[in-house]
Amino acid sequence: MENNVPALYNDCASILVSQQEIAAICDRLAAEIQDTYKDSNRRLVMVVILKGSMPFAAELMKRLTLPLELEFMKVSSYGAGTKTSGEIKISLDLKRDDLQDIDLLVVEDIVDSGRTLFRLTQLLKNRNAHSVRTCTLLDKPSRREVDFIPDFCGTAIPDEFVIGFGLDYDEKYRNLPFVGVLKREVYEK
Ligand code: IMP
Ligand code: MG
Repeated sequence: MENNVPALYNDCASILVSQQEIAAICDRLAAEIQDTYKDSNRRLVMVVILKGSMPFAAELMKRLTLPLELEFMKVSSYGAGTKTSGEIKISLDLKRDDLQDIDLLVVEDIVDSGRTLFRLTQLLKNRNAHSVRTCTLLDKPSRREVDFIPDFCGTAIPDEFVIGFGLDYDEKYRNLPFVGVLKREVYEK
């Protein structure tokens, strides 16, 4: 990007998913989600995975007209770097005692190795949630290490480290309004 723009923007090599594309993706996903749950008479609970999924979940939920409840979990598989550790750590857990009666929709920013959502959906199913589905804004299928396919997927992207619209590198860039590719020099220096 050009000079005279904030450093945050300057660290982007390119814009991968624009604000307009994000809006169109959310329109489509909301329609798919509405259609999937329209005949369910159970409570639908959106489980937002902190922190990265916050902007995406906010865009998505305002397009849904079904009755919807909101919960949060904090699950991490990454430290400050760009490589997965292979383990997930739950630092904020879901506290519901009615899991057997509810449909859970887990909302994630990006699926990479697939380990986070693979393990998390296993865990929630083991706790006897009536149903567990997953919705991700971004998917990097070429990076998959476990057999995991999200139920609702915004868009597949190539194997690049991306930032913005909730996604961070070392806790920064979450406030960019689009998804961009992080310049290699930022994390290789
Ligand atoms: P997985 O368990 O390997 O699928 O990793 C999923 C998590 O890794 C996401 O929730 C993100 O926090 C993080 N992650 C994976 N790829 C990226 C990326 O390109 N940019 C920022 N975070 C990423
Ligand atoms: Mg993250």
